[in-house]
Amino acid sequence: MEILHLDTIESTNDFVRKENLCDVVVYAGNQTKGRGQRGNTWQSEPNKNLTFSFAVQPTFLDASRQFEMSMIVSLAVVDTLSIFGIDSTIKWPNDIYVGDKKIAGILIENEIVGNGKFSRCLVGIGLNVNQKSFSEDIPNPISMKQSAGSIFDILEVLEEFIDAFKKRYAQLKENSSKAILDKYTSLLFRRGEFYEFSDKEGSFKGKILGVGDYGVLLIQRQDNTISEYQFKEVAYII
Ligand code: BTN
Repeated sequence: MEILHLDTIESTNDFVRKENLCDVVVYAGNQTKGRGQRGNTWQSEPNKNLTFSFAVQPTFLDASRQFEMSMIVSLAVVDTLSIFGIDSTIKWPNDIYVGDKKIAGILIENEIVGNGKFSRCLVGIGLNVNQKSFSEDIPNPISMKQSAGSIFDILEVLEEFIDAFKKRYAQLKENSSKAILDKYTSLLFRRGEFYEFSDKEGSFKGKILGVGDYGVLLIQRQDNTISEYQFKEVAYII
């Protein structure tokens, strides 16, 4: 994949979409309208972090398997961080955490064609690399610098990510769904122990078991019943 650096841009995801780029990773020194999930903004101090996007065309994948794409992107970020000595976990569905803090966010925008196949998948990643302090309105942020103590070469981190992503994408192409799911499950933030969550009925204690069909989150209640959640239906109390 070719790497294209831009000084300032509104959003790398929008740029990749508008320019119809494929096999090019676009990273920006500064994003003026960085977008997050759920209509949030993505804030990142200029030239301190990685904000980048690229498009892939997983035409081999049925649209019903969108969550596998999301899993491999998360795994590639975790793989990258581990190369730099940082252990991370995945807060379902695809936030990357170090301890109780968010180090990276992922925004995936899928385009599906009539036959139920992917036509294009836009992947946008914000990874906090060298930022030393964050504005108070960002919940639980952390950077690689804050977690490992040293400064990192931003381009080197991006190159490692591209390598890690290529490997995970190859795994997806080979249909290694079980290996992908097992690895993803093993890395889930707060899996296997009881923690506080909230849903539309209020707060409750539950234990994350893993993910079910289409990536729903499976949480076991204290009365042993299991609830399934779609994205946005449950919040972690951190
Ligand atoms: C989130 O956690 O809410 C997702 C954040 C995704 C941010 C990245 S930064 C590069 C790309 N361009 C954007 O506008 N957003 C994504």
